[in-house]
Amino acid sequence: MHSATPAIAMSLFLSQMLLLPLLLLAVAPAVPDSGCQTRCGDVEIPYPFGIGTNCSREGQAYICNITESGLQKPFAGNVEVLNILLEMGQVRMLNPVSSACYSPNYNNVNYNRWRLNLEGTPYRFSNLLNKFTAIGCDTLAYIIDDHWSSISYQSGCVSMCRDEESIVSDSCSGMGCCQTSIPKNLRYYRVWFDGNFNNADTWRFSNCSYAALLEADWFQFNTSYITTSQLMQINGDGRVPVVLDWAIGHETCEVASHNLSSYACISNNSACIDSSNGPGYLCNCSTGYQGNPYVSNGCQDIDECNQQSNPCSDGICQNLPGNYSCHCPEGTHGDAYNGTCTPNQKLSLAVKAVIGTSISLIFLLVFGMCICMIYQRRKLIQSRKRYFSEHGGMQLREEMRLQSLAFRIFSKEELERATNRFDKNRILGQGGYGTVYKGDMGDDQFVAIKQPKVINERQKKEFGKEMLILSQVNHRNIVKLLGCCLEVEVPMLVYEFVPNGNLFELIHSRNIDNLPLAVRLNIARDSADALAYLHYSASPPIIHGDVKSANILLHENFTAKVSDFGASRLNPKDEEQFATLVQGTCGYLDPEYLQTCKLTEKSDVYSFGVVLLELLTRRKAIYFGENERETSLASNFILAKKEDRLQELLDNQVTSEGDAELIGRIGELAVQCLSVRGEERPTMKDVADQLNNMGKLHPVPWTPPNAEDIESFLPVPSDAQTSTGNTSYIQEVALLIEYAR
Ligand SMILES: *[C@@H]1O[C@H](CO)[C@@H](O)[C@H](O)[C@H]1NC(C)=O
Ligand SMILES: *[C@@H]1O[C@H](CO)[C@@H](O)[C@H](O)[C@H]1NC(C)=O
Ligand SMILES: *[C@@H]1O[C@H](CO)[C@@H](O)[C@H](O)[C@H]1NC(C)=O
Ligand SMILES: *[C@@H]1O[C@H](CO)[C@@H](O)[C@H](O)[C@H]1NC(C)=O
Ligand SMILES: *[C@@H]1O[C@H](CO)[C@@H](O)[C@H](O)[C@H]1NC(C)=O
Ligand SMILES: *[C@@H]1O[C@H](CO)[C@@H](O)[C@H](O)[C@H]1NC(C)=O
Ligand SMILES: *[C@@H]1O[C@H](CO)[C@@H](O)[C@H](O)[C@H]1NC(C)=O
Ligand SMILES: *[C@@H]1O[C@H](CO)[C@@H](O)[C@H](O)[C@H]1NC(C)=O
Ligand SMILES: *[C@@H]1O[C@H](CO)[C@@H](O)[C@H](O)[C@H]1NC(C)=O
Repeated sequence: MHSATPAIAMSLFLSQMLLLPLLLLAVAPAVPDSGCQTRCGDVEIPYPFGIGTNCSREGQAYICNITESGLQKPFAGNVEVLNILLEMGQVRMLNPVSSACYSPNYNNVNYNRWRLNLEGTPYRFSNLLNKFTAIGCDTLAYIIDDHWSSISYQSGCVSMCRDEESIVSDSCSGMGCCQTSIPKNLRYYRVWFDGNFNNADTWRFSNCSYAALLEADWFQFNTSYITTSQLMQINGDGRVPVVLDWAIGHETCEVASHNLSSYACISNNSACIDSSNGPGYLCNCSTGYQGNPYVSNGCQDIDECNQQSNPCSDGICQNLPGNYSCHCPEGTHGDAYNGTCTPNQKLSLAVKAVIGTSISLIFLLVFGMCICMIYQRRKLIQSRKRYFSEHGGMQLREEMRLQSLAFRIFSKEELERATNRFDKNRILGQGGYGTVYKGDMGDDQFVAIKQPKVINERQKKEFGKEMLILSQVNHRNIVKLLGCCLEVEVPMLVYEFVPNGNLFELIHSRNIDNLPLAVRLNIARDSADALAYLHYSASPPIIHGDVKSANILLHENFTAKVSDFGASRLNPKDEEQFATLVQGTCGYLDPEYLQTCKLTEKSDVYSFGVVLLELLTRRKAIYFGENERETSLASNFILAKKEDRLQELLDNQVTSEGDAELIGRIGELAVQCLSVRGEERPTMKDVADQLNNMGKLHPVPWTPPNAEDIESFLPVPSDAQTSTGNTSYIQEVALLIEYAR
């Protein structure tokens, strides 16, 4: 047994430290008795270690002894145990330092050399944590394993120094101190000093060499270890820590885990690890658990949340079996594991509400607008349909289908396109009745589109029927009605476009000095033919109702085309409406019509008589005569004829062309037409025949002297193709009454 006897007494002897009791152990129980002592002094002794035989696994039993200093210390055999690192599978023990001291008095060396034998125990020297360390200024020390009679391992190191001053503390690298590593699975070592390095020359400042296998991290070289015997006083008698690895049995985990009766890792949540330093295995608690894996339920869940450092930083920690989770506190969000919980936006709820409300409002608005637009569109389409049927569109369409007429029903869009949305620049004429636009149907096809201002209820129903009648009128001297548009409140009429203006402009507005009588006669004849056609060939017969120079349009070569026929059919007939809507134009009105309010073919004859006078005199139907008085052309002409002073009224050119007989005949015809009593007037057919007879004498082709005049009056808005003049109704009615007398 080792004891702390002075080195000199032990000189030349080799002492052995043995973990002796271990070799004598019986089979230990797998589970320790509940009454086992778990502490010895300051040292915790967990299972599989234990105090006494029945308290430990095989080979790990310690003795708890009271040392000379009066403290309780655990011993394995005669080796003091410092502490047990259960998780690492390590035990730290104290092992003595060997020494070789030179004695100048006797010129010899006193050796104190230790050996430590772990054979037959679960321990082996830790190759990672221990270093064989030699100290001295003239030292060569060996660590030797020759337990099984031959040397199986030997290593050593040399430490030299010249004088005290050259030694550096802290540095164990050959000057005063040297170290060497050891191999794995080393279970026995002894120290041996080379006698040739005996400090004989250095004894004045360094008379001893020391060597030991010791825990490298614990050791710190100090110069005083060279010059004094300080090292030999560590732990009282020169014992230094050495780390021993230990393991269970000799098998690997895989093998051992098959024999549950001897398997050491019995705790739930434990794992087996093969020893890294020699045979056998160790047990460890699984991640997230801690405790003793060698006892049942020894591995306990780690409460990570109650550790000094909260793993969740400022997050809320929740412990789980073998794990934990982190949540951000209420009202915050972010990565709770990394401690980046940031407060939620305080306004978020309000903002959300506002955003939500606005979005829904916008949605509602858009939705509403869509509904509104759809509704409007539907209303529009419905109103169009309504107008269409109100204006007799259905019957008209049906009739058209049966008769296959060259008459069209135009859609509102077509007319809008043709007139460029009823552009002001497209207006051909404007009057009380409405507006006439020039419409471009493409391919150089032009039409005149008449947009009346009003229509009364009764007319509405008849409209389609009237259209049907008027559409059948087909004569070269009548402006052709091409179609109509019924989808609007007041139906629109589409006529053939007549390019050369009207007769009123030709004879009253344009500066044409030379207007041959033959041309005038042609125009009169064309117009008369047209009216005769209306009266006798159309079915049913049509009374024009508003014959006047402005309603006689001029086509190419000054062919006359009567327009606005049948206005009577489209206008009110009964007396009660007479005052509000006057049929016809002042100066052309049949006096009989004014009395009877009944429009007849003869009314047209009367009006045509006035037109004849206009042609002869180039005076307007009502003109400013002598004394600046408004004068009726008709009454004045009749008067002049009676008084035989026709020459005053006749146009100069007419008289200058001579043929007084022809002029006389025309004048006579006109006067007959202007008879106050309708019966006395000739029929239109008679008029046309007479004019035809006259016209045959004078077949004269004629072009106006200045052709550009045509261009000059075309775009000018005028009364062309409108039924009433510019004069207001009140004036008109007043005049009518005057002339009726
Ligand atoms: C150890 O256990 C065995 C078997 O259980 C028993 O016979 C023996 O007496 C025990 N020894 C001590 C010291 O308790
Ligand atoms: C323990 O103490 C007893 C009495 O003091 C002594 O006889 C024995 O040798 C000691 N054992 C060890 C290992 O120190
Ligand atoms: C046992 O587990 C602990 C903690 O997980 C670890 O530090 C230690 O190295 C493990 N032991 C072995 C022998 O692997
Ligand atoms: C070695 O020297 C120390 C002090 O330097 C001394 O105390 C010790 O007795 C000496 N040893 C021997 C064997 O002379
Ligand atoms: C060396 O030991 C002496 C005496 O114990 C001590 O005062 C000194 O601090 C130590 N030096 C180092 C570097 O540890
Ligand atoms: C299992 O271990 C027990 C105790 O160590 C031993 O007696 C037994 O022979 C082992 N069984 C096997 C199959 O190794
Ligand atoms: C832990 O072990 C006990 C028996 O020792 C067993 O009843 C229990 O189910 C185990 N628990 C888990 C989670 O494996
Ligand atoms: C612990 O939980 C995290 C996620 O919460 C997961 O990634 C990890 O694998 C878990 N660890 C264990 C040992 O279950
Ligand atoms: C925490 O942050 C680090 C870097 O900032 C990142 O690498 C890590 O994945 C994060 N951990 C978790 C649990 O999100």
